[in-house]
Amino acid sequence: MSEFVSQSTRENWDRLAEHDAMWAILTDPARRGGGWTAEAFFATGVAEADRVMAAVRSAVPNFSPAGGVALDFGCGIGRLSRAFGARFAHVVGVDISAAMLARAEACNPEKGRVTYVLGNPSGIPLADASVDFAYSGIVLQHVPRSMQEGYVREFFRVLRPGGLAWFQTPGRHLRDLGRIFFGQVETATGPARIELHMFPRADVEAMVAAAGGELVNVSADASCGADFESWAYLACRRRP
Ligand SMILES: C[S@@+](CC[C@H](N)C(=O)[O-])C[C@H]1O[C@@H](n2cnc3c(N)ncnc32)[C@H](O)[C@@H]1O
Repeated sequence: MSEFVSQSTRENWDRLAEHDAMWAILTDPARRGGGWTAEAFFATGVAEADRVMAAVRSAVPNFSPAGGVALDFGCGIGRLSRAFGARFAHVVGVDISAAMLARAEACNPEKGRVTYVLGNPSGIPLADASVDFAYSGIVLQHVPRSMQEGYVREFFRVLRPGGLAWFQTPGRHLRDLGRIFFGQVETATGPARIELHMFPRADVEAMVAAAGGELVNVSADASCGADFESWAYLACRRRP
């Protein structure tokens, strides 16, 4: 199967946001069609932030979020941005979809500590070395491999030396040799797709090193379901 980019990524995610934003982010079949309550949805973000920060603390005991700036790349409606806002001095949520960001703004009780910024296909709109912690969960998997590489490079550009990146992406399907999987969703404004793009672990590890990162650890990740081997990478931006 060859790589492709669907209709504009922004238009695709805008359609999904307008259709059923919470379900497009956490595609639990039992919650399809408006089945998520805001309370249950955002509680998953708090649990995930707790889990990620506990793993970070145990791998890098001297890392402290207090006073730091976090990036939540592909923030959606702020599920994690909000949760990180309770720990970091400031969080910047970046997303390609203006419709996702409008929803994030509308239900953001952490105003002042979280800023939402529209992303773009070619980079992360933040200054070099401006971030202490770059987080991205269930996002890179939705963009083609070449774009994933670009964003991983960007994580290490926006991180200050010694800053940490935590990001997740699937390496392979356990039975199918394809590199791209997708589901189609009919929305009121046209069809939308939820794509899953594979980025093999060995290639991610090489990419991290080439981008100026040092891998701290790699852990198994269950967010793509039992059919996929998916990994969460924790890496540090090398100091000069
Ligand atoms: C499955 S949702 C995850 C949202 C959020 N990370 C969470 O876990 O709640 C994927 C998000 O990635 C965003 N996204 C997709 N492609 C992107 C890109 N190239 N740049 C930034 N965000 C992107 C989508 O708009 C969507 O909000």
